[in-house]
Amino acid sequence: MIPDSFIQDLLQRVDLVDLIDGYVPLKKTGANFAACCPFHSEKSPSFTVSPSKQFYHCFGCGAHGTAIGFLMEYSGSGFLDAVRELAARCGLALPDDHADAPRQGPQLKRLAETMAGAAKFYCEQLKASPSAISYLRKRGLSGEIARRFGIGYAPDGWQNLAAAVDDYSAGELQLAGLVIKNEQGRLYDRFRERVMFPIVNQKGEVIAFGGRVLGAGEPKYLNSPETPLFEKGRELFGLPQARTAIRDSDTVIVVEGYMDVVALAQHGIGNAVATLGTATTGMHVQKLLRQADRVVFCFDGDSAGRKAAWRALENSLEVLPEQKSIGFVLLPEGEDPDSLVRSRGSDIFLQMITEATPLSDYLLRELARRCDLSSAEGRARLVADARPLLARLQSPLLRLQLVKRLAQASGFSQAEVERLCALRPIARAAPARAPRPAPSLLRPLLRLLLQKPALAAQLPLDLLPDSSAEARAIALLCAAIASSGTAGLGYPALLERLRGSEDESLLHEAAAELMQQPFAEDEIDAEFEGALKQLLDGEQKRAFALLQEKIQKVGVAGLSREEKEQYLQALNARRRAKQAG
Ligand code: UTP
Ligand code: MN
Repeated sequence: MIPDSFIQDLLQRVDLVDLIDGYVPLKKTGANFAACCPFHSEKSPSFTVSPSKQFYHCFGCGAHGTAIGFLMEYSGSGFLDAVRELAARCGLALPDDHADAPRQGPQLKRLAETMAGAAKFYCEQLKASPSAISYLRKRGLSGEIARRFGIGYAPDGWQNLAAAVDDYSAGELQLAGLVIKNEQGRLYDRFRERVMFPIVNQKGEVIAFGGRVLGAGEPKYLNSPETPLFEKGRELFGLPQARTAIRDSDTVIVVEGYMDVVALAQHGIGNAVATLGTATTGMHVQKLLRQADRVVFCFDGDSAGRKAAWRALENSLEVLPEQKSIGFVLLPEGEDPDSLVRSRGSDIFLQMITEATPLSDYLLRELARRCDLSSAEGRARLVADARPLLARLQSPLLRLQLVKRLAQASGFSQAEVERLCALRPIARAAPARAPRPAPSLLRPLLRLLLQKPALAAQLPLDLLPDSSAEARAIALLCAAIASSGTAGLGYPALLERLRGSEDESLLHEAAAELMQQPFAEDEIDAEFEGALKQLLDGEQKRAFALLQEKIQKVGVAGLSREEKEQYLQALNARRRAKQAG
């Protein structure tokens, strides 16, 4: 485990505004910064970043968190990767057992610089190569689109990159996959005589290339190998360029090829991205569904395209939330989006996207193709084949819909299908934004503790009404504060420590409230005292009521000495309160 103190240190060093601004351009609005939310589609900015709190919150969709949370949400990376990336940004070395040599910061940075240098070189070479320019023109591309995608050209020759870098034998070139060492130890360029498509990550860094031969030749596309910068299953070609169009249309089109993305953009369809010669992963889908409510896979109608579509479907099931939709378009055999948009125009293509087959229809249709539904065996097989797929679905509504349709198609009853598929109820995460009666005292307390964790030491936990979620969250928070040692964690670090806990969303809500209406620094203690007093008063009232109840049963004489004393004190306190009030 990474020590809390490290997370604390990390979160203090990272400038959240600077970090997020690198992904989503932020505008200053008073004390905070704002932008249109990258996690849902919106026209006016409700995504807010607080520089003083080092916390972001979207008042539209409720997305919120620290720098670590932002990276996890935005780039779909895991906790460790996010920590690693932030550590690299601010030059912190990860605690030993997490150092993981190949991903260390300075090296990643050098690799990224190497790739940037190569991309620049290839672009310059394109300008100098009439044959490459004429190839792109023949394929219908304008200079503007070539520039938008940073398309370049790797000329003929074995060591052209030597002209672009200081040291051709530097390890980075090989690690970046740009240069290969042969068995005799001689170095040569991986990409030669190819049109170069840079693959750009969300930070705008070139992390890989796809290179196409001019005309015929094998392989048609040569791709960068996986490197510390580049993991195929996470990246999509064209995503940074597509961002605005995705937001405007609330739809992402996923196609198979580099040229498909570029040709669609050329025809005014800017919201297309491509997987990189690999199957669509759950990670891909998750990444895309964060940016749009609808993902449409548009693949070739041949058997490879069908297979790709099916893999995409399987990998979508687990990550498909309610309210989001996935569609499928299989093009006529022999066509791809590039050829189709060129021969038939963008309107026809867009219409096909609009009329995409919904996931549930596609799933049933494909399953039904494999079974003979005119026989009882075939219908039973349909249900059996559907079983593992239904089990992966996380969305209860969609599952119900599918169960109904399966029942129709198979002749079983809905209950029978559910039983045959051994479906268990989907555990629904508590809706984070559901209106919850906020006990008026506990919410402010939660905020106070987040803002000034040191106050936890003075809070009598046994006085909290123990039934509410707020009380649980406060107890959890106090425990985390207590165990974080004398140095004490700031609240972003505390929130990271409580990541995944039952009441996490409550803590985040409180942090978000803090962003909207923080307690003024000089008033925190007074606020806290007020809250404490309310707690104690409440406790006294309860105790007094209990005593009164007892007195009614057994008389004052029946009280123990202690109880009598308590009763007297309480009476005095009440009298004083009355006089004062
Ligand atoms: P296609 O063979 O469908 O090519 O490969 P394409 O995109 O239509 O290309 P053009 O129109 O002939 O130029 C689809 C995708 O599969 C990967 C590439 O990502 C390509 O864009 N691929 C294909 C490779 O990685 N290597 C190959 O040799 C071929
Ligand atoms: Mn093509």
